[in-house]
Amino acid sequence: MLKLDRKYFGETLNQAADGLEQSAMAALNSLKAKTCKGSEYTGWFNWPASEGFALATAIEDWLKSYKVDFDLIVVIGIGGSYLGSRAVSDLTTHTFASVMGSKATVSGKPMMVFAGHNMSETSLSELLDLMAVRKPVVNVISKSGTTTEPGVAFRVIKDFMEKRYGGSAGERIIATTDARKGALRKLATECGYKTFEVPDSVGGRYSVLTAVGLVPLALHGVDIRGLLTGADQVFKDLSQEKPQSLGRLALNYAQCRTAAWNAGKRIEVVAYPEPKMRNLVEWWKQLFGESDGKEGMGLFPASIECTMDLHSMGQYMQEGARTMMETFLAVDRPRTLRKGQETPSIKVPVTGSNLDELQYLEGRAVDTINDTAMLATRQAHSQGGVPALEIRLTDLSAETIGAAFAMFETACAVGGIMLGVNPFNQPGVEAYKLKMFELLGKPKV
Ligand code: PA5
Repeated sequence: MLKLDRKYFGETLNQAADGLEQSAMAALNSLKAKTCKGSEYTGWFNWPASEGFALATAIEDWLKSYKVDFDLIVVIGIGGSYLGSRAVSDLTTHTFASVMGSKATVSGKPMMVFAGHNMSETSLSELLDLMAVRKPVVNVISKSGTTTEPGVAFRVIKDFMEKRYGGSAGERIIATTDARKGALRKLATECGYKTFEVPDSVGGRYSVLTAVGLVPLALHGVDIRGLLTGADQVFKDLSQEKPQSLGRLALNYAQCRTAAWNAGKRIEVVAYPEPKMRNLVEWWKQLFGESDGKEGMGLFPASIECTMDLHSMGQYMQEGARTMMETFLAVDRPRTLRKGQETPSIKVPVTGSNLDELQYLEGRAVDTINDTAMLATRQAHSQGGVPALEIRLTDLSAETIGAAFAMFETACAVGGIMLGVNPFNQPGVEAYKLKMFELLGKPKV
């Protein structure tokens, strides 16, 4: 499902990374034993077996009995409350499914859109336009229920739904929130919404495989069991005394990142070759940014989309300040959107002309050229002084995506523990909120 290639990471860094094996194992053991900092938020570890599969059954049972006719899912949430489902939706859906309808090669899924992750009135008003011509259901996701961005969006959208559907609006609103307390729990109880729980033991950025991600993705028609099965494989590998392949990969990645940090690198750039991966990488940025970035430490998570950004950021990557490491996120079979289904390959047409100097590419698949461009970039950047890893996904199946989530979460937690920080809190996020509340005149409670 996943492979790690360290060939272009450089001999010195590779040796340093190997030297961190014991330290990574110690970090993993403290994670497993729940003796690490922030251990009360480690419920995501081994989640599929402990809770995830049972939750999938409950969601599937509920969906069977859910008789509401809908063709649009509006997910309201910010940060960890939406990035995971957005990543999976992009990875598993035809880019133009929403406009092609049943003619899209991978269709049959109600369209999924996102709100409450910004404060843009334009976005909100355009979303309401879409909702007016569709049959929407709304999944509002907030542990606290008082986060400003999703809170404002939900007030507006709730009002819209009540005006449109009157007394039956509540059937179209699903709330995912704290099991017992908080503003959204209270409101959902009052309004009789169907609810799912954000577990106490899982922080937002580690929550994609809880109800936070699984409920909207199940509504969207994604194989949520596949996601859990892939993740479960990583945790099973990690449960061995000597972690096996996928688990070993997670530790190896953490060791490489730590070695880069110790060697003075300050930025990790993820380079990805598929536009569909953009939100997976946004999810990765939140995971590592919020987990590592504290006490003046942590690699700054950044990204470039290839080959697009090679024509803009490529210059900096090749010759700018040498403070970066790079991780190439490759995929063997990006055209697999559903298990066993692959869209036909597009080959460069034979034209009998070399006017564009592309005759040498005739008959080659565009994917193969893309993959070669990524390898060339990895070689060039590493020669230019940017140590480069490659993490390769075999395909974009639910299993592989689930494995990628679990692998990155584990690598992030292990790396954070090695760095000495608490990888499960985010105290710094409060600073902008306090300033904003002051400027907006929020009353103190
Ligand atoms: O990772 C996190 O904890 C954050 O991204 C939260 O998920 C985000 O701030 C949303 O918080 P809440 O679910 O309380 O609305």
